[in-house]
Amino acid sequence: MPMAESELTRIRNNHRLLLALCDQLERIADRLPDGIDRQECLVLARALGPALYRIQTVEETLAFPVLAGWQSLEPEMAETLERLRFEHQSDLCYAEEIQDMLRAYGEGRPSPAPDAAGFMLRGFFEGIRRHVAFERQALLPLAALMRHAPASGVLRSA
Ligand SMILES: [Fe+2]
Repeated sequence: MPMAESELTRIRNNHRLLLALCDQLERIADRLPDGIDRQECLVLARALGPALYRIQTVEETLAFPVLAGWQSLEPEMAETLERLRFEHQSDLCYAEEIQDMLRAYGEGRPSPAPDAAGFMLRGFFEGIRRHVAFERQALLPLAALMRHAPASGVLRSA
């Protein structure tokens, strides 16, 4: 069952939201320790994990089953989807640590130290940006292609 255009649009919009969150986290990392907005940290400390989980669930529910249709012809697709699921899980775990750190800074308890906090933030948003770039540039075009021709048809005519 191919994905509807509205489903692809929903995932693309979610990716834009994730990248905006990454930009927000980068601004916080750039302003540590004294230039941060504590209220912004508290808001992000509540919103980050749930937003990430919601976005990942949409991908795994709408896109991954469709993309799995390639695996009978391209076994690597199964490995790719497994890797992405693993990245989702590890990003969620990492997000919990980021949330704890943001909450601490938001409440005026700057822990860990600014250098470590900045390192944590950069590791997190750089990983998310790489993940999103792969899904946007490699997977979604494939899913969009499958809207017009099932995997087997595309490969047979190539
Ligand atoms: Fe993802």
